[in-house]
Amino acid sequence: MQEQVKASKKSQEIIDDLDSLNEAFVLFFNRLLQTARIHEAKNQLTVNAVKQFIEISQKLFKESSELSIEAHHERLFIQGEKLLLKQQTAATIFTILNFFENLSLYGLKFNPKMSDIDFSQAYQFARLLIEAPKHENPLEWLQKYFEQDRFQWVEIISAPKGQDLFATQKAELAYQAYCHAYNSLKEVVQKIKANHRAGVRKAVRVVQDITDLVFMDKSIVLGLATIRDYDDYTYTHSVNVGVTSVCLGHTIGLSRKSLVRLGICGLFHDLGKIDIPIEILNKASQLDEQEYKKIQQHSLNSVRQILKLEAYRDLIAKIILPPFEHHLKYDLSGYPSVNWSKPISLFGRIIEICDVYDALTSPRIYRPTPLTPDRALGFMLAKSGEDFDPTLLKWFINMMGVYPVGSLVKLNTGEVGLVYQSGASKEYPMPVVLLIKKNAEDQLKADKLLDLNETDENGKPVRTIENSYHPAQYGIQPAIYLMQV
Ligand SMILES: [Fe+2]
Ligand SMILES: [Fe+2]
Repeated sequence: MQEQVKASKKSQEIIDDLDSLNEAFVLFFNRLLQTARIHEAKNQLTVNAVKQFIEISQKLFKESSELSIEAHHERLFIQGEKLLLKQQTAATIFTILNFFENLSLYGLKFNPKMSDIDFSQAYQFARLLIEAPKHENPLEWLQKYFEQDRFQWVEIISAPKGQDLFATQKAELAYQAYCHAYNSLKEVVQKIKANHRAGVRKAVRVVQDITDLVFMDKSIVLGLATIRDYDDYTYTHSVNVGVTSVCLGHTIGLSRKSLVRLGICGLFHDLGKIDIPIEILNKASQLDEQEYKKIQQHSLNSVRQILKLEAYRDLIAKIILPPFEHHLKYDLSGYPSVNWSKPISLFGRIIEICDVYDALTSPRIYRPTPLTPDRALGFMLAKSGEDFDPTLLKWFINMMGVYPVGSLVKLNTGEVGLVYQSGASKEYPMPVVLLIKKNAEDQLKADKLLDLNETDENGKPVRTIENSYHPAQYGIQPAIYLMQV
């Protein structure tokens, strides 16, 4: 008993010395592996290590609904946050990185059931990890054990699909993820309408997939956000806002975990529109005062709907503010009217930018010809500092490029194409364009890619953009062509 009190005290001292519980978790996880490798279960050192591991897990689950540890790009990530290499922790981090590499293990995910594990479960878990590399296929071997009831608190995270894929394969994955996001949102909306409780698990998973794809190839993901559904605007709009928000968040360097939360906020930001009659949403003429009031209620209604979702409270708590704020402008005008002076949250400002951009570039019944992407950016720039956070807007415009992905452009050669890569860099300021040509059956088809940064022997560009048009004017869904590359 005394020994246990001593061990517990010591672990608290270790936690106090570190900057976060995440670091403490890594330290105790490593200690568990090292001790269980050398000593038997009955040994006091093993007993202490197991106890400390269980204690730190319980502490973490008081604050979070899941716990993940991942090893990639030669760094360790807890909950998607990269662990900094510090003097105190660097050796441990490298040991764990090596350990994961030996096992070809990308990551482990723990759920709240972990708070209730006993000594033998924790010890056996460590022993399994230690034994696994001796087997021909360590992960398959581990997986068999992790499927047992006594290990329902841990699962293996596989490497995101498509680390080394070709552009077409990535595009295919991205398109699938987009469709899944669309369907998961639709499912949530249908459940709410039928007065059933809607869960968010699918939505979270799909936003995680989209986030992984953004890390892999942002251009492809941005191309997806050009998808427009002329019948059911709100779904594609919401997915587009989620997708572009994740891209903007990635551009400014947010962690994977934050990006997933941001993407969920984007996906659900207009959930409150459920209560607005479709006749008002699709009204071609100007709205009367009552109708406009109804529209203005949707941000607060989004919060109400999100609160009803079946999800961990900590997730819900973190995703309600941005949807509430998404029609509040940078200068706090907009709606709903608020009497506070504190700035809008970072996620709120990101979603506001992505929301306006998608709305301006989408054809609606009351505005059949939307703005072209470049004109929409120009329009938004004129409101920088009033409607939009100037720094974020700058990042957004940089990310989109002068001609954002999906813009329909006419070249000086008479050729027509869709912007495939925006060329938002100093060295390559001009976009890469996917030519579109009619085939023998008079159907438009994706042709070849042209890099507009290409110059002739005099250093002059071989091709230039003469004009840009909105793809919707020609009934073109850019994403469909961009997927054909
Ligand atoms: Fe909205
Ligand atoms: Fe919106």
